[in-house]
Amino acid sequence: MIPGKRRAAVMSLSVAIFGTLMLQSVSSQNEPSISASEHALLSADVDSLMLQCNLTSAHSVHQESYWMKNGEEILETRSPNRNTEYRLNRPRGDDAGVYMCVYIFEMAPPANATIEVKSPPMITGHKRSENKNEGQRAVLYCKSVGYPHPMWSWYKAENGIFKDIDNTTGRFIVSSKDNYTELHIANLDINADPGEYMCNATNMIGSITEKSVLRVRSQLAPLWPLLGVLAEIIILVVIIVVYEKRKKPEDLQDGDWTCENQFYQQSQGQESPPEEHKLSSLSAKSRNTCIDHMKPEESGTSQESDKTGAVLRVRRHCSASSSTNYTRGS
Ligand SMILES: *[C@@H]1O[C@H](CO)[C@@H](O)[C@H](O)[C@H]1NC(C)=O
Ligand SMILES: *[C@@H]1O[C@H](CO)[C@@H](O)[C@H](O)[C@H]1NC(C)=O
Ligand SMILES: *[C@@H]1O[C@H](CO)[C@@H](O)[C@H](O)[C@H]1NC(C)=O
Ligand SMILES: *[C@@H]1O[C@H](CO)[C@@H](O)[C@H](O)[C@H]1NC(C)=O
Ligand SMILES: *[C@@H]1O[C@H](CO)[C@@H](O)[C@H](O)[C@H]1NC(C)=O
Repeated sequence: MIPGKRRAAVMSLSVAIFGTLMLQSVSSQNEPSISASEHALLSADVDSLMLQCNLTSAHSVHQESYWMKNGEEILETRSPNRNTEYRLNRPRGDDAGVYMCVYIFEMAPPANATIEVKSPPMITGHKRSENKNEGQRAVLYCKSVGYPHPMWSWYKAENGIFKDIDNTTGRFIVSSKDNYTELHIANLDINADPGEYMCNATNMIGSITEKSVLRVRSQLAPLWPLLGVLAEIIILVVIIVVYEKRKKPEDLQDGDWTCENQFYQQSQGQESPPEEHKLSSLSAKSRNTCIDHMKPEESGTSQESDKTGAVLRVRRHCSASSSTNYTRGS
């Protein structure tokens, strides 16, 4: 656009604005009129922004004026002047909003003018990650500054690409209000739900997104440490029981009974023990094991002679003790 045309465009624009203001003051001649700055747009390269209001006509003596932002009075802006201004130094996203200058009169209701300061949305807070158990409910949120308040939407990453959330199960609920949005996921599914979610804030000026990671653990996860401790206790108990059994072979009457009977039969050549004590014949190897097992404290220079000695002692022991055993058995 060449400079001349541009100037003409600006001129016609300001004429149009001026016309509107004039129209307003004409249509309400009894009302006070305020000349206010135009709506502004915040961007990174705006160093400072001056908001002005001039009371151009009034039906009554005015008392004072003050500024408001988003419906709340800005403190320390009260002044008795007809012309008032409010400066935004190095404005940021949260300086965007609806500004208003209000004039108070002695004999008439207050008058005001509105200046909108717009900016693209900026997400100032969001849930970076959420860790929940399956079956529980997850809540992700994003909040923003910027004006106008954005339209919110949520997406989920499928193979690295963000797509609309599949809500066929009806477990996803989005609730958004102005500068805040929440995504509720009910009855978490350990297979379908974990992954990356994204909130998108879009207004007429711009758009921005932020990501959240949802992790879903198995319902048993909190029990695992407990199960681990239980398993340790069980293993310990088993080890102790086994150890105790091996340590005291003399106490095991049933095991010795087998050996004693066998030797009694073979050495004494007497009749078999009663039916309930019938035994299978032992192999030579298991017999030796049996002897060693019964008399572990005996030891000699030669293994062979030791075993023979042990056999004899066992026989003696058997013949002495087994008769009582048999009488008990029969
Ligand atoms: C308000 O008045 C001052 C001083 O007369 C002028 O410089 C300024 O442009 C006016 N502002 C508006 C918004 O009319
Ligand atoms: C601003 O003025 C309008 C009418 O012009 C009035 O309805 C509104 O309540 C006023 N707001 C404030 C904050 O004074
Ligand atoms: C969001 O908007 C509400 C009013 O709608 C305001 O009170 C609050 O401070 C805002 N929060 C942020 C982070 O701008
Ligand atoms: C998902 O479906 C449920 C139940 O039909 C509905 O209430 C909810 O608004 C839906 N959520 C979205 C994000 O569409
Ligand atoms: C956010 O959503 C809007 C509307 O669906 C889209 O135009 C915009 O590109 C999205 N923004 C980003 C940063 O993806």
